[in-house]
Amino acid sequence: MAMNILCAGDVVGTPGRLAIADALKTIVPDRNIACAIVNAENVSSGSGITPPLYEKLIKSGVNLMTLGDHIYRRREIIATLETSPQVVRPANLPSTAPGREFAIYETEGGVSVAVFALLGRLFMKPQADCPFKAADRVLAKIPGEVKVIVCDMHAEATSEKIAMGWHLDGRVSIMFGTHTHVSTADERVLPGGTGYITDLGMTGPHEGVLGRDKSRVLQAMVHAIPTRFDVATDDVLTCGIIAEVDPHSGRCLHIERLRWPYHAP
Ligand SMILES: [Fe+2]
Ligand SMILES: [Fe+2]
Repeated sequence: MAMNILCAGDVVGTPGRLAIADALKTIVPDRNIACAIVNAENVSSGSGITPPLYEKLIKSGVNLMTLGDHIYRRREIIATLETSPQVVRPANLPSTAPGREFAIYETEGGVSVAVFALLGRLFMKPQADCPFKAADRVLAKIPGEVKVIVCDMHAEATSEKIAMGWHLDGRVSIMFGTHTHVSTADERVLPGGTGYITDLGMTGPHEGVLGRDKSRVLQAMVHAIPTRFDVATDDVLTCGIIAEVDPHSGRCLHIERLRWPYHAP
């Protein structure tokens, strides 16, 4: 029987964390979600993640977590990255960077789901190695009996994410992009059986600029006055996808976009 996997994009601040918790509470039972994967790189006031926030996300039903370029912004997460089996660092960071390259979660139905993440190199800070070679290296390490594999390509450029989709087609069940905080309308199942979307979008407040208070960002962009970018508050959505995957072959059968409004109680 096919299984459903939910993937949600960059969780921004407290609004994003409350939104994903609320979305999972309803969607996991309603859609029989076997595994929930989120990118949590922005959960700590818009940048990074702390151990208590990590625990809160796990308690709210997140099964696997990816991060991105803000991974070490809050250094106290490093011990969690080194010990937790449910969170990964981008696999193409230097080999000495703290954290694991892939993680495997066993669903209640007994299906193993592996996740790994990559950083793009176009228009990004230059510390990452080639993501394509890193993907090949990680896929060679994931045990052969694990058929369901999910990749988060955390990158700025659509071209780099689309290229990675083709590179991984038939080798992973789902490849989703993150980092831009804007969801794309190109979800599809590639010919080799990989469910693909260029960007999941953001789980957080959309009445702002990529999750930040719009008046602050405008002050910086219009008047060139540097200012602190507080997390915005309104129009909070969970954005991502739900993918149906055959656990025996690992092939994605169907992918649909998710846009789930959150209304604070
Ligand atoms: Fe982000
Ligand atoms: Fe990012």
